Amino acid sequence: MRGIILAGGHGSRLYPLTKIFNKSLLPIYDKPMIYYPLQTLKQIGITEICIVSGKEHCGQIMNQLGSGEEYEVDITYRVQEKPGGIAQALSLCESFAGDEPITVCLGDNIFEDDFGNNSWQIFTTEWIDEFFDKEPKSHIFIKKVPDPERFGVPVFQGMDRHLIKIEEKPEKPMSDYAVTGLYMFNHEVWSIIDTLKPSERGELEVVDLINWYIDRGKTTYSELKGFWSDAGTPDSLVQANKLVSEKEKK
Ligand code: DAU
Repeated sequence: MRGIILAGGHGSRLYPLTKIFNKSLLPIYDKPMIYYPLQTLKQIGITEICIVSGKEHCGQIMNQLGSGEEYEVDITYRVQEKPGGIAQALSLCESFAGDEPITVCLGDNIFEDDFGNNSWQIFTTEWIDEFFDKEPKSHIFIKKVPDPERFGVPVFQGMDRHLIKIEEKPEKPMSDYAVTGLYMFNHEVWSIIDTLKPSERGELEVVDLINWYIDRGKTTYSELKGFWSDAGTPDSLVQANKLVSEKEKK
């Protein structure tokens, strides 16, 4: 399995912090933000990683992470000419991934869960092989949040919480869960992205991509145990710093 970190986009909700710096290089306690998604992918056992960033800031990320040798990973870079959405950024990684399944982590997502821990049974080699050997498949990770309207929100049906769709930033959320920025897709993902149409805001949306899989019964999900933060706004950036510093000091 190959890993992808998406660190392009506008960073407009953090302006002027993002005027000169890429969002993913802003500090989260004692490390730049992008170290956390890198760590998450490493815990899953992924060492071949592609980072997508805008052309204004790509050099900064390369200066920070280099070839990845220092972190015992092999890093490839892709440049997103202009922000066209998460699915568009992802499409730039097709030749990097080839036929391999992928795990995608958004560059501003901080996960407390240790995915290398044995309790995360889905990350055994056997699970990953079996999961991606078969039909088109995807897996997402959800987390209960007090403000679901800020995120992609899963809609469930029935007592067994069958996932029927995801709504992007709905005014009236149908659940109190967020879809976090950690996604797994099999190799069919590239041909599915090719069929996506830009949303009203002119972007190829990751939610449309996942809904394609859900409509065909090909998406499973796990609920995160530890804290999760999308550090893309001033308040959530402060919150992520607080959570990580408290954890580090324990
Ligand atoms: O954090 C989880 C949420 O991330 C999900 O719940 C939403 O469904 C998903 O759409 C996304 O929402 P955001 O509003 O947080 O997305 P944002 O535009 O901030 O982009 C998230 C990351 O994706 C960002 O840190 C960099 C990367 N990105 C984004 C865009 C639009 C790119 O690399 N290229 C892009 O064109």
